[in-house]
Amino acid sequence: KMTMKDLDLKGKRVFCRVDFNVPMEDGKVSDDTRIRAAIPTIEYLSKQGARVILASHLGRPKGEVKEDSRLTEAGKRLAELLGKPVLKLDESTGPDVEKHVSELGDGEILLLENVRFHEGEEKNDPELAKQFAALADVFVNDAFGAAHRAHATTAGIAEYLPSVQGLLLEKELDVLGKALSDPERPFTAIIGGAKVKDKIGVIDHLLDKVDNLLIGGGLSYTFSRAQGHEIGDSLVEEDKIDLAKSFIEKAKEKGVNLYLPIDTRVADSFSETAATKVVPVSGIEKGWMGLDIGPKTAELYESVIKDSKLVIWNGPMGVFEMAPFAEGTKRVAQAMAETEAFTIIGGGDSAAAVEKFEVAEKMDHISTGGGASLEFMEGKELPGVAALKDRS
Ligand code: 3PG
Repeated sequence: KMTMKDLDLKGKRVFCRVDFNVPMEDGKVSDDTRIRAAIPTIEYLSKQGARVILASHLGRPKGEVKEDSRLTEAGKRLAELLGKPVLKLDESTGPDVEKHVSELGDGEILLLENVRFHEGEEKNDPELAKQFAALADVFVNDAFGAAHRAHATTAGIAEYLPSVQGLLLEKELDVLGKALSDPERPFTAIIGGAKVKDKIGVIDHLLDKVDNLLIGGGLSYTFSRAQGHEIGDSLVEEDKIDLAKSFIEKAKEKGVNLYLPIDTRVADSFSETAATKVVPVSGIEKGWMGLDIGPKTAELYESVIKDSKLVIWNGPMGVFEMAPFAEGTKRVAQAMAETEAFTIIGGGDSAAAVEKFEVAEKMDHISTGGGASLEFMEGKELPGVAALKDRS
């Protein structure tokens, strides 16, 4: 398979899709992880003498120009990180863009405006994809975070240009792909988060792959109900209790050690100042809700993580944004930092958790994809990756 490195890029116009969909606070980039993750590809292209045209979305402006969704600040941050100028344009198509692209010198970098200002982007409109393609000679997709979207700049454009993956996309697919296809064992997955609904596909798929599956977070109370426990006022998805039962059955059939919380920290309201106590999962009374795994569960999960060779983590163990309910997630994060296992963080909230508990640099891989890494772990083919097939 051809990669970026097989192409002679000198003097070529390269349309490079990145995922600069970064968190913003007070009009500034508040977390530049995704921008930093795109640097190797951008620097490589520039050093090869390519004329680099960067494209990204930011937020969900739904086909309208929204001032607070401009990529101006992301462009500034990129220029700082690269230590060289980045020409940020206020549009992503049209005569002005064409003019700037035609004036671009070898190795120079230009950043288009948020591509989601066009309605056709999310619709994967072929006319828009053609307009983007007409700007360039080559398409490089480095937007792993957006690879689960079949949009004009993530998929459609590949119809009209030689298309290859960038270094970030390649690394994400390598690490996640190897974990799922040829894992070191014991292989442990930790799945948390609020809802079973969001994790059905990933739990189902991982039960075919892992040795141990650790469950925590809001979704664990639906599993508690499946085990026949009363859960007081804890979060529950009544319509997913049977599904949780079927996962418990599937784990047995597949010989997977499915670990469910044995104790939980409950609170008398969803608040940082609530009264709290630790109870066994079988003992949650009315008027109390579980908001974190308990210390016995944390200890059990720590020991499983310690004895693993590979651990993938997606979803927090409790409401870790609130100090009284952060302990479970913190202990899992620290166990991930201390284990000798290869550790993968599947993006989103778990990535935020390892940042918060200051163990991010101890992880072997933190995915830049939230939805994308989840869909990958569900075993789905990502449209942004599929589009590159046979296009180089
Ligand atoms: C993400 O943040 O997960 C990606 O950038 C995709 O964004 P989207 O969910 O708005 O498509």
